[in-house]
Amino acid sequence: MRILLLGKTGQLGWELERTIAPLGEVYALGPQELNLTDLDALAGLIHKLQPQVIVNASAYTAVDRAESQVDLAMQLNAQAPAVMAKAARALNAALIHFSTDYVFDGENDSAYTEGDPTNPLNVYGQSKLNGELAIIEAGCAHLILRTSWVYSLRGDSFVSKTLAWARQQETLCIVSDQVGNPTWARMLAEITAAVLAQSMPAPQKYFSTRSGVYHLGGSGSVSRLDFARAILRLDPHAEQQKTRTLEAASTADFPTPARRPLHTSLDCSYFESTFGFRLPNWEDCLRLAMSEQPTNPGP
Ligand SMILES: NC(=O)c1ccc[n+]([C@@H]2O[C@H](COP(=O)([O-])OP(=O)(O)OC[C@H]3O[C@@H](n4cnc5c(N)ncnc54)[C@H](OP(=O)(O)O)[C@@H]3O)[C@@H](O)[C@H]2O)c1
Repeated sequence: MRILLLGKTGQLGWELERTIAPLGEVYALGPQELNLTDLDALAGLIHKLQPQVIVNASAYTAVDRAESQVDLAMQLNAQAPAVMAKAARALNAALIHFSTDYVFDGENDSAYTEGDPTNPLNVYGQSKLNGELAIIEAGCAHLILRTSWVYSLRGDSFVSKTLAWARQQETLCIVSDQVGNPTWARMLAEITAAVLAQSMPAPQKYFSTRSGVYHLGGSGSVSRLDFARAILRLDPHAEQQKTRTLEAASTADFPTPARRPLHTSLDCSYFESTFGFRLPNWEDCLRLAMSEQPTNPGP
């Protein structure tokens, strides 16, 4: 299978480059090889490489900065995926793309299903939703995997930040009114690779009968505050922590340029039943992720 992976330097892309390596001939690109704002170059490259599957882990993910960089966020999260989808359609290839819980407004009392209405509160969420719609409109075989609270210990994630804060501050104030599904980038990459393996040797045929939007995150939901508690508890180098108190704060206590949705738990049962997986619990994933923590994560 010939696979083009975009966004290889990101949290998810870094893991994907490793997990999809055994599946065939993989062309993995980051911004150094191809700037995705150059849409003509993107289209040209896809037509030159003729992949059977495009896996798009690239995105503009700076949620607050997106409020002032609207055009760039739209280019990377909507126009570039549209180019990928049109090229995939022309080549009879499939596109696997990642989206976000931020397409929702967070007002639901229960976990969001794929059929729930979208209503993004910020530019990032709107740009990701535009990307979803552009892919669907292009009509290629596709999977749009909406995920949430993605972390890796390599990236600048909530987990790595919490570990660093805990080494500097006696008291941490963490919001307790944001609830979501923490998703380990490794777990997301491994499940994506497993789905890709199921699609062999005819990925376009396999994905064309399963095309759609799916929710895919760590199983179970938690508040940011309880997520932070778990991070500190599972830290294998807890003796380095200075933090003695974790205090609950509300989102309103930390004004940010972008509004954040509060309750964005994702119901992932449609993905599980379609592809035959049982998604691991977020806390089990966190335990595994933390067991790889380097000796001194540092500030
Ligand atoms: N992080 C989260 O909490 C979260 C939550 C929900 C959904 N998601 C979605 O999950 C997917 C993966 O997220 P992630 O956390 O792995 O993102 P990430 O770490 O920010 O990685 C994004 C990737 O896109 C690349 N990129 C950015 N601008 C580019 C450009 N102009 N040209 C080429 N490449 C460019 C980045 O390159 P450099 O970094 O090297 O510049 C990086 O490789 C995305 O679709 C995201 O929207 C993420």
